[in-house]
Amino acid sequence: MRVSVIGTGYVGLVTGVCLAHIGHQVLGVDNNTQKIALLKQGLSPIFEPGLGELLQDNLKAGRLEFTTDVALGVAHGEILFIAVGTPALSGGASDTSYVEAVARGIGEHLTPGYRVVVNKSTVPIGSGDWVRMLILEGCRTRGSSQSVDFDVVSNPEFLREGVAIQDTFCPDRIVLGSSSERALRWMQTLYAPIVHHQVPGWAPPGAPESVPVVVTDLNSAEMIKYAANAFLATKISFINEIANICDRVGADVQQIARGIGLDSRIGQKFLRAGIGWGGSCFPKDVAALIHTADDYGYNAQLLKAVVSVNQRQRWVVVEKLQQTLKILNGKTIGILGLTFKPDTDDLRDAPALLLADHLNRLGARVKAYDPVISQGRTQAEPSGVVIEANPEDLCKGCDALVLTTEWEQFRHLDYSALASLMDNPVLIDGRNFLDPKTLEAAGFRYLGIGYHSL
Ligand SMILES: NC(=O)c1ccc[n+]([C@@H]2O[C@H](COP(=O)([O-])OP(=O)(O)OC[C@H]3O[C@@H](n4cnc5c(N)ncnc54)[C@H](O)[C@@H]3O)[C@@H](O)[C@H]2O)c1
Repeated sequence: MRVSVIGTGYVGLVTGVCLAHIGHQVLGVDNNTQKIALLKQGLSPIFEPGLGELLQDNLKAGRLEFTTDVALGVAHGEILFIAVGTPALSGGASDTSYVEAVARGIGEHLTPGYRVVVNKSTVPIGSGDWVRMLILEGCRTRGSSQSVDFDVVSNPEFLREGVAIQDTFCPDRIVLGSSSERALRWMQTLYAPIVHHQVPGWAPPGAPESVPVVVTDLNSAEMIKYAANAFLATKISFINEIANICDRVGADVQQIARGIGLDSRIGQKFLRAGIGWGGSCFPKDVAALIHTADDYGYNAQLLKAVVSVNQRQRWVVVEKLQQTLKILNGKTIGILGLTFKPDTDDLRDAPALLLADHLNRLGARVKAYDPVISQGRTQAEPSGVVIEANPEDLCKGCDALVLTTEWEQFRHLDYSALASLMDNPVLIDGRNFLDPKTLEAAGFRYLGIGYHSL
């Protein structure tokens, strides 16, 4: 099928490249000229494992092209994906201005022939009908008398940065929300190779025969996305709350997590205590759901508590540093990992940056090493943090280390050598990622979250 993906960020680029890989003819559209120039050369503007190779393969195969011209995109695609950002506004609502601009643009450039317009962006509940209205308004702006024929489908994205290709080819489910049988049929055809595990090299062992496709109305599909992220954020805030109690009573949250996670009703995932959730989705999506609930006269108390536990969790590391080092003014703290999770270059709402900000305000000097950011592969330079080129430079003269991102590389560092470079070998493991015994044997004072009471 002919597909256009408007917005080639973390979601749009992965979606476009993967759809090209399963045989569709894909045009990626973005208004960022630098991004499109890189993509045309086969260079990925983001760090996502496996994406660069797939991008180049599909460019060479002629199934994938890029443009900044939205008119070309609208003319090309039978299926038009909207995959632009929906960041949070200060009051918690989503900024839907990028979606609005694209929807109007689609309307202004719509040519004859049926189209399916797909909301891939995470958009407030009710956006499907709103996008339809904007497209029609766009058509009217153009003054065209031609009748237009399109349907809107909500197809929320659940990929995890760092394993985005795997999540696209082997998703747990595909959610499609629409009232149009025709649009739903087109979407089922589009995704058929993924649904039937026919992507070469990507048939997950032990996977069910086909990927479940959840067909709903527009509003429910939009709500599924928010509910999923709100639930996952709740699970993390829950275990963090338990960890804070463990810290006080001398219990080990990792043993608790295992003990409860083996209960199949609870499950093991998202039960690792730490410095809390961040990133490009959870904070804004939970805030947007609370905001929507408020708009409709409902006080989402549980979700508000989930957010407040998470905000407090940032301070746990600072408290542990204060209890260990006392005055932080004039101390040097080294941060291991800056990105909000491993295997991405995404710094949006990264807990490490908020921690650095707290520490700066308390007068500490903050240095950091991150496997991707230290190589200069980042879109935004973090402020208030000196970026070191390697873990050794990070440790020189440090009063404490804080691990904030669980990069696999951090398991394999020579901690004995690193301890000898520090003024004071203390390590606060903000992700309960390292083995305490190994760290203690290497000469560190090791403190986890909900793990070692002070
Ligand atoms: N990043 C994730 O892991 C993830 C996962 C699931 C869902 N989502 C949702 O997907 C959406 C996109 O997220 P993202 O992380 O890919 O965002 P992003 O900021 O990485 O990408 C958005 C892209 O849209 C482009 N853009 C903005 N306005 C445009 C316009 N008028 N025309 C063409 N291009 C335009 C930007 O230049 C950018 O390249 C958001 O709603 C997000 O909540 C993201």
